[in-house]
Order: sequence, then C-alpha cells, then structure tokens
Amino acid sequence: MRTQVAIIGAGPAGLLLGQLLTKTGIDNIIVEQRSPEYVLGRIRAGILESVTVDALERAGVAARLHEEGLVHDGIELSFDSQRHRIDLHALVGRSVTVYGQTEVTRDLMAARQEAGITTVYEAQDVSLHDFDGARPVVRYRKGGVAHEIRCDYIAGCDGFHGVSRQSVPLTATQLFERVYPFGWLGILSDTPPVADELIYASHERGFALCSMRSRTRSRYYVQVPSSERVEDWSDDRFWDELRCRLDPQSAQSLVTGPSIEKSIAPLRSFVCEPMRFGNLFLAGDAAHIVPPTGAKGLNLAASDVLTLADGLVAACRHDDKRELDAYSARCLRRIWKAERFSWWLTSLMHRFPDADPFALRMQRAELDYLVGSEAACRALAENYVGLPY
Ligand code: APR
Ligand code: PHB
Repeated sequence: MRTQVAIIGAGPAGLLLGQLLTKTGIDNIIVEQRSPEYVLGRIRAGILESVTVDALERAGVAARLHEEGLVHDGIELSFDSQRHRIDLHALVGRSVTVYGQTEVTRDLMAARQEAGITTVYEAQDVSLHDFDGARPVVRYRKGGVAHEIRCDYIAGCDGFHGVSRQSVPLTATQLFERVYPFGWLGILSDTPPVADELIYASHERGFALCSMRSRTRSRYYVQVPSSERVEDWSDDRFWDELRCRLDPQSAQSLVTGPSIEKSIAPLRSFVCEPMRFGNLFLAGDAAHIVPPTGAKGLNLAASDVLTLADGLVAACRHDDKRELDAYSARCLRRIWKAERFSWWLTSLMHRFPDADPFALRMQRAELDYLVGSEAACRALAENYVGLPY
C-alpha cells in the first residue's frame, strides 16, 4: 500500500488528524492495534476548550457536539466545607464544553467510515522504518499476513505506550517526567450530576472531582494511593468516600446509583522533546501526558494535530516545509504551559503523602488567596478555558 501520511493510532489524535487531512484531499491510512469497540470502551475526560471545538468544527464533526454538549461558564472549588464559584465567562469571556472523549471518538470514527477512508484495526506488530529519509515505511501483521505501507510522512498518534516514540533512539530524545504518588479512582453512573457545574474538592482525605457526561450521567473521581486496587472498592465504599470529601450541601444532594464503569488511572506529567524525528511526527499522548486535573489531555492532542495538519498540508500540497520545521517548537511552547497548569492544579488540590504541616498550610493559604483574589481567579480561568492557540 502507498499513502501520503501513515497515522499510527486511532485515538482522538489520530482520527482528528485523519479527518483534517481527508478534508483537504491528503491521502492517509490509520493503523490501530485494537478493535473499534475497545477504543470506544475507554472512558477519558470530557472538557473541551474552544480551540478543540473549533478543530472539531473544521473537521466537520461538531454537529452532535453542538446538540448534546453542555456549555459551562464556571467551575466550583470546594474546601473547608464551602463551595466557591469561579466564573470563567465573566473572568475571561470564554467557556468550556462538556462532551465526553468517547463521543468525540465516536463522531470521528463515523465521519471516517462515511468518507470511506482506510483504517486498519487490530494491526499486530506495528513497526516504523526509514523515517530518517524520504521514504518511510510502516509494517504490521493482520490475520497472520504481513503488510507494508509506503508513505511520505508518519504521524505517531499512538498514545503514551505506543510504538512511535519507542522507535526513536533514546539518545535523540530528552524526556521529562513526574509520577505522582496517587491515582484517580473514577466511576461513571446513570445518575443526575450533583451540581450544574464541575466541583473540584480539596479535603484532608484527598482530592475529589464531580464531573458529568450529560444531565443524566455523572462521572466522579476520588484520589487514592497508587497501590490501591479497584476490586477493593465497592460502589458503596466509593460513594461514602466521595460524600465525605464534599461540602455538606453537595454531600446532601449527591444522588448515588450503580456504577457502569469503575477504574483507577495513575497520574503522570511527561514530555518528550523534540516531537519530530525526520519524517516522523509525534502528536498527543505519544509526546506528552498531563495529570487529568486540568482536563488538558485531549485539548493538547487537538492543538498538536491542528498544527501538524497545517504543516502536512503545506508540505504535501505546496512542497512548503516551513510549518513542519516549526512543528515541534511551536507545539512544545503550548504544551509546557499546559503542563505547568496541570501540575499546579494537581499540587494545589491533592494530598501528598509526604506533605509536612508547613506544606499543608501553604496549600490552604493558596486556596484561600485564590478564591479571594480576582487576579488569581482570572489566571486560573484563562488556563482552564485554554490559552490562545
Ligand atoms: N500500534 C498501533 N496503534 C497503537 C499502538 C501500536 N503499537 N500502541 C497504541 N496504539 C493505539 C491505542 O490503542 C490507541 O487507540 O493508539 C491510540 C492512542 O490513543 P490515545 O491513548 O487516546 O491517545 P491520543 O489519541 O493522543 O489522545 C489523547 O486521550 O489519553 C487521552 O488524556 C489523553 O485525552 C487525551 C487523549
Ligand atoms: C471528566 O469528566 O472525566 C473530567 C473532567 C474534568 C477534569 C478531569 C476529568 O479536570
């Protein structure tokens, strides 16, 4: 097979890139190691910045998002038994849209299928070759048969554990990483959300987050030690723990019900520099991870992909490589700012096992300062809705 751009991974990054390229007539093939059902079964965050909404509009997949997405003008912070609203819209004139990553993925998959573009699912032993030169090759096996895709460019959109970054010699990269000593235990339930907006709660027993997917489906999280096992958490234990970390008003109005998904996600900050190696370009989780506290993962993937799509179109259409040359540096500036914000919000809201009394007082003073200072609230709001693209 031959194509202009071989895309590794059919997560939101790979699918969005494919759609943006297809829209401008650039040939592409996606190679994904899992099945479509598996990809859609992963529950991830669901807060879209306006940059991401714009990207999905450009890709022609925003109709359902506009119909079903919930526009949120604010978020709430809860600590010391009180809730404090941060009015994002009043502070920075922008909002966020609540629409699950699963739905974004579903819409992108449907559009790709409708356009009749090749996606190879359940590809085994995917490997990347010769991306240092002008004729990169992707090889994989499917159903016991070996396949080869010759292409001009490879987009590594295969997530943190993917093969793309691992195909690059370690000496060519600089990796930056912080692993946090806790994870998020999350559940999804068909119960009405506890409040109209998201609640980020800091409590002596640990962080908690009340989020949602719709007016009838809630997503809740509690911070747990990294060693925790999901099997040890019955639904009742989860609801009790969540209730205990919320302010009394929220705790009282919390509607509980059976979980329809329950999992623990580790928290990590990670950046790989650079994001380009010859004709291989990394995008999304393949190049960087943020802890979920700021809900930046999907949004960063979308802004990488917008930049990469523009660069690939200029290169494939007009033989103009300037945007591709600038790709890595341009993305990394935005990524590091989102890394900083996600790390800061994580540090502010979570209980760290090694925190001494001074550290705890600093955290509390910062929360107190934040909710009392319009300048500090504006800084939070400007990052939460997304820095300019
Ligand atoms: N070969 C082919 N595909 C692979 C390989 C491989 N060796 N390894 C992984 N993949 C696939 C995965 O199965 C997955 O479908 O690549 C895809 C990567 O998707 P994501 O992990 O969702 O990453 P990305 O598309 O960058 O999306 C970023 O997802 O993880 C969240 O927080 C993150 O919200 C952000 C968004
Ligand atoms: C989610 O809904 O899953 C979610 C929302 C906001 C976050 C993280 C996750 O900051």
